[in-house]
Amino acid sequence: MIVGSVREGRFGPVVARWMSEQVERHGAFEVDVIDLAEAELPLELTAVPPAMDPGMNRPEGMSDLTRRLDEAEAFIIVTPDYNRSFPASLKAAIDWHFTQWDAKAIGFVGYSGASGGVLAIEALRQVFNELNAHTVRNYVSFPRYYLLFDDDGELRRPEEPAIAAREMLDQLQWWANALTAARAARAAA
Ligand SMILES: Cc1cc2nc3c(=O)[nH]c(=O)nc-3n(C[C@H](O)[C@H](O)[C@H](O)COP(=O)(O)O)c2cc1C
Repeated sequence: MIVGSVREGRFGPVVARWMSEQVERHGAFEVDVIDLAEAELPLELTAVPPAMDPGMNRPEGMSDLTRRLDEAEAFIIVTPDYNRSFPASLKAAIDWHFTQWDAKAIGFVGYSGASGGVLAIEALRQVFNELNAHTVRNYVSFPRYYLLFDDDGELRRPEEPAIAAREMLDQLQWWANALTAARAARAAA
């Protein structure tokens, strides 16, 4: 699970904690929560893009992120809407990598003001198409999240979001299994 925002005072970790609980309850996945705020993510990319040079030299402070992305069999991306799209931190993390996303399943949890992260999610679908990743249909969205979570970071009415999370995770599991088998077959060919 990737926490996409790195802003001071961000809400992302609260949403990620809730989603981690849903993943544990679902039972199909072992979750590793990746906080992009802990990674070095410069905007200046290398001359040769990662698609053409998968083993490229990356900044030392990115190595932990790269290793964990490599190891993941599927991703959940926790993202707010920033100006009708996703945060630049997330774009940098995506653009510094290529094989790490290739033929993997991706699910989304969005939150923000009126749009609930859906605009970021839709923009990310387009980006992940280019990386040959598969984004699953269902998602979890928290419009006006500040009305939905209390001061302790707990959902006031958790039932419907829990169902949305379970449905998204069922789809993620199906695609993760299919794509993990497909990647193994590709590697063996
Ligand atoms: C730069 C910026 C742009 C934003 N743009 C939108 C937006 O287009 N739509 C929306 O509903 N909320 C928008 N918001 C509100 C954020 O979704 C809200 O502040 C959320 O808490 C941001 O996630 P974070 O706390 O994890 O950084 C924006 C916030 C920021 C900081």
